[in-house]
Amino acid sequence: MKQKCKIAVLVSGGGTNLQALMDAEHSGIIHSGTICLVVANNPSAYALTRAQNAGIKTAVVTKKDCGSQEKFEQEIIRILEAEQTDLIILAGFMSILSEKFTRHFEKRIINVHPSLIPSFCGEGFYGLRVHEAALNKGVKVTGATVHYVNEIPDGGEIIMQKAVQVHEGDTPEKLQKRVMRLAEWKILPAAAEQVSAEILNQTEE
Ligand code: GAR
Repeated sequence: MKQKCKIAVLVSGGGTNLQALMDAEHSGIIHSGTICLVVANNPSAYALTRAQNAGIKTAVVTKKDCGSQEKFEQEIIRILEAEQTDLIILAGFMSILSEKFTRHFEKRIINVHPSLIPSFCGEGFYGLRVHEAALNKGVKVTGATVHYVNEIPDGGEIIMQKAVQVHEGDTPEKLQKRVMRLAEWKILPAAAEQVSAEILNQTEE
């Protein structure tokens, strides 16, 4: 039986969710999987520095260098397969993946989204925009969701959710930080462990 599920994390920016995953592996919260690779679609993503500091292998693949979405995805698939990746975690990865890509890794890709899906999700809802929309709507509770990734943006099966209170006077930035701290950084590692354990069980069968 395989000892650990090989995890690749796809990132675009600051990488605080990647940090939460690396910390969770270090503390043993994630013990059925190990982060083997970090792939960024942005060469200046600080997430790359976090990975390098932790001694994790990194790769950069940009749409610009690849010339098209199709070639961009093909190159990512090549890198993921060369590393024998079992589980792909989108942690602030700001590029929508095609059906061809998501089908290639059916039930092997999970994503963290900073709202309680089905609110404030889908195309155009990413990063701070999600929190701006929540505040504009006047919701009193928001949160984060971890879900499987399929061809519908933010439309795959929900794995975990956690609610977070909106406070009087919140700005999108303040709300984003609270949602990250109280929800994303907790449920993403927990879901990564749950799915890694499931994948290990499947390979044992
Ligand atoms: C996180 O809040 C993540 O949920 C969000 O971007 C931020 C990335 O932060 N992702 C999306 O909006 C995807 N639809 P990080 O780089 O510090 O982890």
